[in-house]
Amino acid sequence: KKTNPTIVFIFGGSGDLNHRKLTPALYNLYVDGFLNDQFKVYGLGRTDYTDKKYRDHLLEGIQLFSRRKDDGKGPWKEFSEKVHYLKMDAGAGTAEEYSILDKAIQETEKEWKVEADVLYYLSVGPNLFPIIAKGISTIKSSHKEDKTRIVIEKPFGHDLQTAMDLNKLLAGLFQEDQIYRIDHYLGKETVQNILALRFANTLFEPIWNNKYIDHVQITAAETVGVEDRGGYYDTSGALRDMIQNHILQVLCMVAMEAPVSFDANEIRNKKTDVLKAIKRYTNEEVKENVVRGQYGAGWMKGSKVNAYREEKGVDPNSATETYAAVKFQIDNWRWQGVPFYVRSGKYLAEKTTLITIHFKQAPNYAFPAEAVDAWRPNRLTLTIQPENDVRLLFQAKRPGQTMSLNPVEMVFNYADAYNEPQPEAYETLLLDAMMGNSTQFMRNDQVEIAWKVVMPILDSWNSKVPVSFPNYSPGSWGPEEADALIAKDGRSWTNSPTKSSKDKL
Ligand code: BG6
Repeated sequence: KKTNPTIVFIFGGSGDLNHRKLTPALYNLYVDGFLNDQFKVYGLGRTDYTDKKYRDHLLEGIQLFSRRKDDGKGPWKEFSEKVHYLKMDAGAGTAEEYSILDKAIQETEKEWKVEADVLYYLSVGPNLFPIIAKGISTIKSSHKEDKTRIVIEKPFGHDLQTAMDLNKLLAGLFQEDQIYRIDHYLGKETVQNILALRFANTLFEPIWNNKYIDHVQITAAETVGVEDRGGYYDTSGALRDMIQNHILQVLCMVAMEAPVSFDANEIRNKKTDVLKAIKRYTNEEVKENVVRGQYGAGWMKGSKVNAYREEKGVDPNSATETYAAVKFQIDNWRWQGVPFYVRSGKYLAEKTTLITIHFKQAPNYAFPAEAVDAWRPNRLTLTIQPENDVRLLFQAKRPGQTMSLNPVEMVFNYADAYNEPQPEAYETLLLDAMMGNSTQFMRNDQVEIAWKVVMPILDSWNSKVPVSFPNYSPGSWGPEEADALIAKDGRSWTNSPTKSSKDKL
């Protein structure tokens, strides 16, 4: 698998995402042999850089953030010759600015003596999406539809209306299959493994329904606060930043029906069906099924941290949530009656992304009462990060002369099982975009339906004053109300996977 001759333009070329993720991803793809020899990447930005200075700046990113380090003398030396910088004011949107790109394409095609695939990566704020998309559409070579692709970073809209506006604008300029809306969670190995686990095995799928599954939990917990993104975050919040996109996409992978092929649209249709089936809550139901939180001042691993309202760029009276927990209900044949509890937050106790499938209790007629005491229902845990593993919890007989049961775990750990490096999400997704595979990208309708799922929550929150914020301490597992959300159903959150088989399960 190797790309066609390709030119990549990165809008926001002097920005943080490129420094941390995009260039390290392209570099790793180069070292792994996925890039055609005819490959060029242009960083675009307003900062003054010579090619040399730009390459030095990116090398620093490789040293800090790449899974493979390079001191500048390794493969980076050769790769960096493919990296260039063009100063342009993309936001000005004039045809003249965009003709710089046209010229670069034409010169490169002349040099390579082939028509190149061109990928435009919009690693910029959402306010620039419309201007840049229009600018790109004025470039002559963009009219070769099968050769031009455009990758867009989130957020895809601030709400349903703005998402629809953006989709409409893009649809007027490009074909839907040229547009790659990136959700980096979909590039994570363990998220992709959900499909393999479910549909390449006979064991799980027959019991993957409301007859055997009691409930599902998805946790995406972070130990960082809003860092230096207070300004953006205060207009967003945990529901928009993590749940509307990443968590709902992961939920779709867990809940979707079996696809009949791995065709991009087939997979996306099946996921869209899940989103359509998620119950839309009324104002009253939001109160019952959703909890929001905001962190106060406190301590994280021995360091004092500010309350959210004291963060730079944040309104001192902000009602923005840094934590959200939702009990989703999927109204379809397979999932009727099986709640999906999801939650995400900043400054929580651990950095972990975890999916747990909790099975129903087995009938225990034959076992003596003391054996039943330690009985735990089966649980399948998919750890997305920081570890990548799959764990199945089941009962075993404790060694000895009595029939005493004990929960134990079977563990499959990626790092132990495969002696191969795992690609980063951005490597997988950039390669897919360059190869024209949109399976792991969000289609226009997926984005809009995901907004339809969260809009009633946002509307309900906006219509009333928030619970008294702040309501959780840094380093905790979030507000007490979130524990109550699940406890009132007789259940509890699974916070972290067990670390070893000797841990209490
Ligand atoms: C981003 C959010 O999309 O995902 C961030 O904007 C969040 O706020 C990040 O920190 C989490 O990603 P990951 O891969 O570290 O779990």
